[in-house]
Amino acid sequence: MELIEQLKESIQYIRDFSRIRPRVAITLGSGLSNFVSAVKVETTIPYQDIPHFAPSTVEGHPGNLILGHVGEVPVVVLQGRIHYYEGHTMERVVYPTRVVAQLGTQKLILTNAAGGLDTSMRAGDFMVLKDHINLTGNNPLIGPNITALGLRFPDMTEAYDREMLEKLQGVLTRRGVRHSVGVYCGVSGPTYETSAEVRYLQIIGGNAVGMSTVPETIAAKHMGLRVCGISCISNLACGLTDQEITHEDVKATGKMVEKQFSEFLVEFISGL
Ligand code: HPA
Repeated sequence: MELIEQLKESIQYIRDFSRIRPRVAITLGSGLSNFVSAVKVETTIPYQDIPHFAPSTVEGHPGNLILGHVGEVPVVVLQGRIHYYEGHTMERVVYPTRVVAQLGTQKLILTNAAGGLDTSMRAGDFMVLKDHINLTGNNPLIGPNITALGLRFPDMTEAYDREMLEKLQGVLTRRGVRHSVGVYCGVSGPTYETSAEVRYLQIIGGNAVGMSTVPETIAAKHMGLRVCGISCISNLACGLTDQEITHEDVKATGKMVEKQFSEFLVEFISGL
């Protein structure tokens, strides 16, 4: 079945559950799914129930599409994402992003856990994305272009929306949240980087590295959405400390900052 037909079926399925017309979409990264407790939830739909959604298989990534409100703002939350390293095609990885765009959202907030590449960073810091480098070796737009969704050759000059970035930075600064603004390197994973790879990422201008976000940003820009990205720096990248990196530690950092994360995200979204 053509992608556009699949999207129609998914949208119809979701609309049969809820009359909410979300304005803002939020994708929650590893260890950050507790944000949902700050949402006035109307409907929760498990990914596996939605036609054409791939189930999320990663621990720390429950797969639910949630409709509700943050403050007065109608939102759709993707609690848990589909990763390229799970073996899905890029088309499947960005499918939920395409669905939330087709639901009528204009703004997308992508959150993730990432390794810090700057030695000044500490676990639990945040980094607002001002740009990214796609190192996945793939691109979700490879294949025939669907003109109804977007251009064949989308411009990426402002992949991350400046106005949203400045708003989010303002919220973080006012709240005294430790943060920086930087470039996210998107890799395929599932291995964490080697020390040599980390030095390479530093040299090419990266400030954080992670296994998500970049494909979704590309698909969202393709569809004309305004995108904002924020990384929770869950660890310093390989070789910058003598500690090994584990998924357990990544989740533990998410847990450590979950209250702070929910609070500033609620304030940010309420002002969008
Ligand atoms: N590298 C890649 N992805 C990650 C990391 C990391 O160090 N930490 C959390 N996600």
